[in-house]
Amino acid sequence: MAEDLVLDIKNLVVHYETEDADVHAVNGIDISIGKKRTLGLVGETGAGKTTTALSILNLVPNPPGVIKEGEIFLEGKDVLKMSSADLEKMRGNDVAMIFQDPMTALNPVMTVGDQIGESIAIHQNLSKKEAFEKAKEMLKMVGIAESRAYDYPHQFSGGMKQRVVIAIALACSPQLLIADEPTTALDVTIQAQVLELMKMLIQEQEMSMLLITHDLGVVAEVCEDVAVMYAGRIVEKGTADDVFNHMRHPYTEGLFDSLPNLKQRGEELVPIKGLMPDPSDLPPGCAFAPRCPYATEECSKAVPQLMPVDGSETHFVACSAYNHPEFRLRGNKDGK
Ligand SMILES: Nc1ncnc2c1ncn2[C@@H]1O[C@H](COP(=O)(O)OP(=O)(O)O)[C@@H](O)[C@H]1O
Ligand SMILES: [Mg+2]
Repeated sequence: MAEDLVLDIKNLVVHYETEDADVHAVNGIDISIGKKRTLGLVGETGAGKTTTALSILNLVPNPPGVIKEGEIFLEGKDVLKMSSADLEKMRGNDVAMIFQDPMTALNPVMTVGDQIGESIAIHQNLSKKEAFEKAKEMLKMVGIAESRAYDYPHQFSGGMKQRVVIAIALACSPQLLIADEPTTALDVTIQAQVLELMKMLIQEQEMSMLLITHDLGVVAEVCEDVAVMYAGRIVEKGTADDVFNHMRHPYTEGLFDSLPNLKQRGEELVPIKGLMPDPSDLPPGCAFAPRCPYATEECSKAVPQLMPVDGSETHFVACSAYNHPEFRLRGNKDGK
């Protein structure tokens, strides 16, 4: 089974060791992505999502970031044990990353055609002219007229810039695309178009994707698998059906209740009360317990581990209350 995994993260622990604090950003997570699968990693700001993404490319800024433990297998090879030459080769070739702000990825003084072409030329051994022609094709693929290859980034709108970034990321046909809040900075209508485009290209090119977002609605649009992250831990994961239709974690329920577009019209929106704990001062036990409407005394004693839900092979939850015979989530469609 493991051969089918493009990405397999095992027990990843990442801290930021600053002068004032030891920030426990990622606290022993396990996630994996199969070939041609799309995993949504969802959680509030500060949950540790970007740190997880940077770890996959071995790009956690050090100092202050330190990968304390874990293994990250990309197509079977542990990224954390790769030489810097192999890492260089892997970035862009096997894995490409898209960030929230397209301007961080674009060079303001270079035409977009040259930028896409440069990425193609590096990875595909083509002449400059051939690469530029290919760049025009890539532009067309992301829905931008070929003639715009001669324009500079500032001549494009935010949504169009992000399309250019997608073209650059896909130019070298990576196995895995990591997209960290790729549409968060865009208008809602543009967001939907860019997501739709990404979904189509991923399918066409038979890639896998890790889509990072704080928005469960975005995950619902695009992802086959879902992992919910809270205070540096995965609290629930499974297929989209497992997590959306048979959720078991109170935090997942909270995310749903606070989401306008996934709720039936007329149902009351309930934001989750309180704040995520400071990752430099995590409470003992379940980090969600202080905000959890279902929490019992037991919840603050030990950190709950991810366990299969009803013997499932795909659906896992980390919640001690879940094992309680009387525990029932309000929102669950199957009444559990
Ligand atoms: N360079 C850094 N130095 C210190 N703390 C950091 C640094 N980068 C991130 N953090 C902290 O690590 C935690 C996780 O951050 P991050 O991975 O960016 O979460 P997310 O992407 O889910 O919002 C947060 O508490 C954040 O403040
Ligand atoms: Mg982030």
